[in-house]
Formats: sequence, C-alpha cells, structure tokens
Amino acid sequence: MTNVAVIGSQWGDEGKGKIVDWLSERADIVVRFQGGHNAGHTLVIDGVSYKLSLLPSGVVRPGKMAVIGNGVVLDPHALTAEIDRLAEQGVTVTPENLRIADNATLILSLHRELDALREDSATASGSRIGTTRRGIGPAYEDKVGRRAVRLMDLANLGTLPAKIDRILTHHNALRRGLGQPEIAPETIMEELRSVADRILPFRETVWRLLDSERRKGSRILFEGAQGTMLDVDHGTYPFVTSSNTVSGQAAAGSGLGPGAIGYVLGITKAYTTRVGEGPFPTEQDNEVGRFLGERGHEFGTVTGRKRRCGWFDAVLVRQAVAVNGITGIALTKLDVLDGLDEIRICTGYRLDGTLIDYLPASQGAQARLEPVYETLPGWQGSTVGARSWADLPAQAVKYVRHVEELIGAPVAMLSTSPEREDTILVTDPFQD
Ligand code: GDP
Ligand code: IMO
Ligand code: MG
Repeated sequence: MTNVAVIGSQWGDEGKGKIVDWLSERADIVVRFQGGHNAGHTLVIDGVSYKLSLLPSGVVRPGKMAVIGNGVVLDPHALTAEIDRLAEQGVTVTPENLRIADNATLILSLHRELDALREDSATASGSRIGTTRRGIGPAYEDKVGRRAVRLMDLANLGTLPAKIDRILTHHNALRRGLGQPEIAPETIMEELRSVADRILPFRETVWRLLDSERRKGSRILFEGAQGTMLDVDHGTYPFVTSSNTVSGQAAAGSGLGPGAIGYVLGITKAYTTRVGEGPFPTEQDNEVGRFLGERGHEFGTVTGRKRRCGWFDAVLVRQAVAVNGITGIALTKLDVLDGLDEIRICTGYRLDGTLIDYLPASQGAQARLEPVYETLPGWQGSTVGARSWADLPAQAVKYVRHVEELIGAPVAMLSTSPEREDTILVTDPFQD
C-alpha cells in the first residue's frame, strides 16, 4: 500500500494545504510530522476558506483521522484556539478524529517570548531571521537540549516541578543576559495546569497507532510544513526554520520506518516566494514581483506579512527533488502567470564568475549568487480553474513540460486556483 508524503520544495507556501486537502479524500490518516503553528495552510472548499496552522489539513474531511506526530512542537494554547476557530466554521475536532503523540514537545510562553526578544534585538546587527515569533526555534532547542516538557508530562503533574526547574535554570540565565525579569516556577506550572485537561484527551502512542493502521492497510498521508529551503540542514542556513522539513523526517517525526513513505510529492509553485529574511537569488523587487504578489495574493497566512516574490528557480527545485527523493511534483499557481508576455526561469547561478548548477551551502556564497535565466514566451489565454490538460493554452503546457525537464521530475498534479476541485490529476500518487 502506497503512502504519500507532501513536501514543500521551495521556501514554504507552495500550496501544500490545498493539495493535502485534495489528496485526503484518498487517505485514511493525515499526519503532521514537523514544525508547529508557524505553518499556515489555506484550503478553499466551495468558496469557504479554512486556515490551518497546527492541525493536519485532513481534519476538515469527515471520517478522516488527523495525527500530530512526535516531530511537531505543540503550543497548547494555539491548538485549543485553532480547534475553537474551526468549530465556528462547523468543523468538529475531538479525540475521535485527532490524536497527538504523547512524546511531542510543548511550546511554552517563554519560548514565544524568547523568539520575539531575539528577533527584536537582532534588528540592528542584521542577523534577524524574520521568524513567525511562535517560539518554534526555542522549543526545538529545548527538545534537543533534553530539557523540554512533553505532552505526556501533563498527565503526571507531580513530575513537573523538577522539569520546570531544569528548563528555568536555562531560560532564566538567558533572560538575565537579555535584561528580562526571571520567570517563577509557579507561572509555568499554572500555564501547564490550565491546559492539561483540555489537551490530554488527544494523547496517543502514535507510533503504535500508525504501525497498526499500516498493517491494516490504511493509507497514510504525511503533511509537511515549511519547505526544503527552510530545512535546518538543507536550507539557506541560518535563514531557516528549526526542523528538518525534508521527506526523511516524515518517518522520524511520526514513528514509522522510512519504508512507510512510498510516494514523495513535492509541492512546487510556478514561481518563487519567501517570507522573512535570507537569500533569494531570483527575487524581483520590481514591477514583476509586485505583479506576482498581487495576482497570487502573496500575504502570509500566519503573520499577514507580504511575501517576497520572484521567478521560478529550477536550480533550487532540482536540488529539492534530490534531497527529498521526490517522485513527482504538484505544480501550483500556474494561473498567476497568465497574461505575462515573457516568463523567466533560473537554470543556473554565477558565483564569482563561475557557472554552477546547485545551491552552495555557504551563507556568504548564497548571498553572492547571480541567477542565470532562460526566457520563455508567456500565454494570453486563462488557466484559472482549468480542470484538464485540454483546457490549458499550448504555451502553458510547454512551460510545464519545460519545468519537468529542468527539475528532473514529472508533474503528477497541477493546481489552477485556490479551490479544492480546480486540480488536474496526471498521476495518482496513491496508486500502487
Ligand atoms: P502552504 O503553506 O504550502 O499550504 O500554502 P499557503 O496556503 O500558505 O499559500 C498558498 C496560497 O495560494 C493559499 O492562499 C491558497 O489558497 C492559494 N493557492 C493554492 N493553489 C493555488 C493555485 O493553483 N492558484 C492560485 N491562484 N492560488 C492557489
Ligand atoms: P508553511 O507550512 C513560509 C519561515 C519564517 C522565517 C523562518 C523561520 O505555511 O509553508 P520560524 O518561525 O519557523 O522559526 O521562522 O521560516 N517560515 C515559513 N515561511 N511558510 C511557512 O510555513 C513557514 N514557516 C516558517 O518566515 O523566515
Ligand atoms: Mg503557508
């Protein structure tokens, strides 16, 4: 039985939510395996828009099981707020349709504060990352620093004081250095006690649940957050998020072996965007960028920030195909390019006068890259809402075929609007 991992192949916001929602009809379980509520996944179903940050996108479909794996950092307040928001839209989330790994790390208020303090103090030195200020980085630091509080700890409040002492020894030292008041243990205790009853019913031994579902033949859809260029190892470090976003993490972050991930679907925008700081070789800080941003409604789901926009970078996506083992891509937002006279694609970089065909790992080198472009003719017809290849202008088809050739992976799906059903299926990723 094939399972499918959906992975962002650029800097996030490629349209993962829409594609996961569409594919979830064919799946039994949808699993988040990394990141947290820094993600913002938008689904549009019959004109109604749903914005998900922490909950797997499968949660809006009745009868599907949504799972938050151990690789996710979980802010209990963000979780309950999101559940309440969805309830207002008529989506019911209960332990019947949502399970959370009991070994998932919790994001506490001190993580959010530290994230913001660092961002604010880094402005002058030029080392600002432009994070979502959700506490993601500090929470992952505490996880690998072996001082995190995890979901199952809430079930045993008596064990918490020692854990809180441990985490505060670290954080209060940092806070003293930053000129901030220290945090009293009771404050954290109260914060945790106040959410325990609400979130404990969702706790699950997720690796066991997934193992048994897999044996039963259930189909699992892994929902990545962020994108490959934001991966803490493979991305534009240090301008990255604090988790591995690549497909390999789908296994470690949910508790299955790597063989459980059958098809890796890379979600790929027909141009490029990025939110926050960091290198972006094909960025168009000009009319073209403004056109893409307005036509594509490129504003962040989570922070409302304007996304930086630029031409399609085939070098980055080719690299994403390699590091994720991408089987096929879902090409999204092709409609945004409608009506352009010319479309550019980056096919290589010039670094200090030498032509290279990959993104070098060094921060300094990444900042010095000059894109090398190919120019293709655009198309005048509309692709908005196209639901079959036959509906696409010939030149749009040529663009898609050329992208496939440059990145070395086939287009398995094509998305032509935010709406769930405006999707062209070429190859079913769940097909065995
Ligand atoms: P994610 O983070 O990868 O899930 O992507 P986001 O939801 O943050 O951003 C993608 C945005 O583009 C959302 O507002 C989607 O509704 C929208 N979208 C997705 N696919 C398409 C498409 O094919 N065409 C257009 N015009 N918009 C799309
Ligand atoms: P989805 O899942 C786009 C970016 C932030 C910042 C960097 C680090 O919607 O594609 P963090 O708060 O994670 O420490 O911020 O990562 N970032 C995203 N950019 N889409 C996302 O998620 C992102 N999640 C984080 O803007 O540059
Ligand atoms: Mg997003």
